[in-house]
Amino acid sequence: MRQILVTSALPYANGHIHIGHLVEYLQTDIWVRFQKLRGHRCIYICADDTHGTAISIRAHQEGRSEEEIIAEMQAAHIRDFSGFEIEFDHYGSTNSPENRDLCGEIWSALRKADMVVEKEIEQLFDVERGTFLADRFVRGTCPKCESGNQPGDNCGNCGATYSPVDLIDPVSSLSGSRPEKRKATHLFVQIEQLHDFLDEWTQSGALPTESSNYLKNFFLNEALRDWDISRPAPYFGFEIPDSPGNYWYVWFDAPIGYMGSTRKWCELNDENLDDWWRNPDTEVHHFIGKDIQYFHTLFWPAMLKTAGFSLPTKVHIHGFLQVDGEKMSKSRGTFIQASTYLKHLDPAALRYYYASKLSSKVNDLDLNLEEFATKVNSDLVGKVVNLASRTARFVKDVGLSAEYPDDGGLFEAGAAQGEKIAEAYEAGDFNKAMRLIMELADKANPYVEANAPWELRKDPEKADKLQAVCTVALNLFRQLAVYLAPVLPRLAEQAGALLKAPILSWDDAANPLLGSELSKFEHMMQRIDPKKINAMIEESREDQEQEQDQQTTGHSYQDDDAALKAEPIIEEITIDDFAKVDFRVARIVEAKEVPEARKLVQLTLSLGGEETRNVFAGIKSAYDLDELQGRLVVMVANLAARKMKFGISEGMVIASGPGGEDIFLLSPDDGAVPGQRVH
Ligand code: MSP
Ligand code: ZN
Repeated sequence: MRQILVTSALPYANGHIHIGHLVEYLQTDIWVRFQKLRGHRCIYICADDTHGTAISIRAHQEGRSEEEIIAEMQAAHIRDFSGFEIEFDHYGSTNSPENRDLCGEIWSALRKADMVVEKEIEQLFDVERGTFLADRFVRGTCPKCESGNQPGDNCGNCGATYSPVDLIDPVSSLSGSRPEKRKATHLFVQIEQLHDFLDEWTQSGALPTESSNYLKNFFLNEALRDWDISRPAPYFGFEIPDSPGNYWYVWFDAPIGYMGSTRKWCELNDENLDDWWRNPDTEVHHFIGKDIQYFHTLFWPAMLKTAGFSLPTKVHIHGFLQVDGEKMSKSRGTFIQASTYLKHLDPAALRYYYASKLSSKVNDLDLNLEEFATKVNSDLVGKVVNLASRTARFVKDVGLSAEYPDDGGLFEAGAAQGEKIAEAYEAGDFNKAMRLIMELADKANPYVEANAPWELRKDPEKADKLQAVCTVALNLFRQLAVYLAPVLPRLAEQAGALLKAPILSWDDAANPLLGSELSKFEHMMQRIDPKKINAMIEESREDQEQEQDQQTTGHSYQDDDAALKAEPIIEEITIDDFAKVDFRVARIVEAKEVPEARKLVQLTLSLGGEETRNVFAGIKSAYDLDELQGRLVVMVANLAARKMKFGISEGMVIASGPGGEDIFLLSPDDGAVPGQRVH
């Protein structure tokens, strides 16, 4: 008996589980159920990944504490997982005392090994929010090709990679303000010290070949860069005990969460952590997506090695989910949340479909919605469940034959395939396992067709033959249910209930059931109605609209009063005073530079038809001419013309903000047209 610890990547606590995540959690659950069915001692450990910037931002937006959000999210995750029959032995949280302790332990080991160094680095700091900005919360102009509105780490236009501090005119996406450069001390782990070890370990067979090769060619070819693992306050995470004011970066404490969650399981089950994480006889298997492999194949083994814990026996790496050949998309309705799926469709269908697509290769996986329906209907309903639904009621009263009838060697041939199917499961080649199982189903069905129990039943003289045929069909059904049990646990349970003999072990596929009674046949699985798929897609589209609604109505906003204090409200006016100002919607049909002017641009505003106004506006510091061209603004159309240094200004465009870069033109909502009066 093997002792096996299995993990899936810890999902972030700042979002719901979607069908992309499920590729991983279903893959892992199937593998774990397979191991358990084979009689091994296997535990499946996971947790929510709770720390970091994203969760704080969400907390800020919603005016709630981080703890409140992560508690709510954990409950939602657990609900979704259990809806898909994903069964963890323990589902913990990285924000736990066990995890904090283990982080401390591993940290001391890194210090002792002299792998931690301090460096001063420059980062962008959002003064309004009082926080340093992670790369993805900054946008600005690319320092290389100068295209605007690019992300903080690499340019979508020219592909250059850079540090956010190099961006021209950076803007914080948290506050919209211009961040400033600030120096801060960060702690780094020098994983280069373990270069030789990592070189060897990554080539030792623990990783898929594609990954080993990739690491060898691109990563381990040169010195490994020091890993920045601290963040200055404020940060939602664990404060580093010997470096007050600094917190472990979320990717430091997240993988340690695998152990933290195991420790909690140990406490609850009277087990010993070292028996699972420091025992050469325990296998450790991680299942992860290709996007997070460096953390698991370089940093994580380096930490484990230094602190004297077991290294992963295997890191199973999968690709990304596509839907109908494209990235999941909210607008297409293919960004489907687990809970939305469950409202419309049977979890067993997705479990089977993913299994039929998953292999040990790091390939992306396509959910083709048409194929999904066809495959589930023809394989599971048409070939597997059918074996039972067409025969069970005929032997309800007499039960199964006492001796196994002659079936032309079908059952034995099925039993003989058991090891081959098991090998495919073990290797993660679930697609091969499903193919082998369906080949057996393809042989079983012609047997039933040829012997037509529905005909035999009409002739009382053929009662024995009827019982024999049904005994064969039901045993072949049960054999398939055993092989499919890791993928379809509920079907296995129903098969067990029908034949009054629960499926408990892989070996159940090798021994026919004889002489037993039957329960009443209960409906097992429904054909997928394409209408339900469409309804799910539609609802996923709606979900997004609702989300947007929530963003405008549901949040409690926390705007401060700085702007109001800077410019208090002025003296009261009457409605008649107000009516004297003629505000109009106008379109900027031309925006020109005024070379000698520091602040001004020259705008030609159209009020519709031939009616235009020439206006000089002091918005040069905040807008590019290109951005202005064509947009709608609100102007004061009846302001007396003013002679200025560069020409006559015939009105004024309306904007807010203190000036400089912070000038914000007002725009009407969609549908407004030039010339309309603003009342
Ligand atoms: N919190 C980190 C993992 C920390 S592990 C110590 C994380 N979380 S995640 O929620 O973004 O992703 C969890 C897992 O789901 C990852 O392994 C990721 O690769 C996988 N997937 C997320 N979206 C996916 C698809 N669209 N398709 C397939 N797998 C995907 O990363
Ligand atoms: Zn660029």
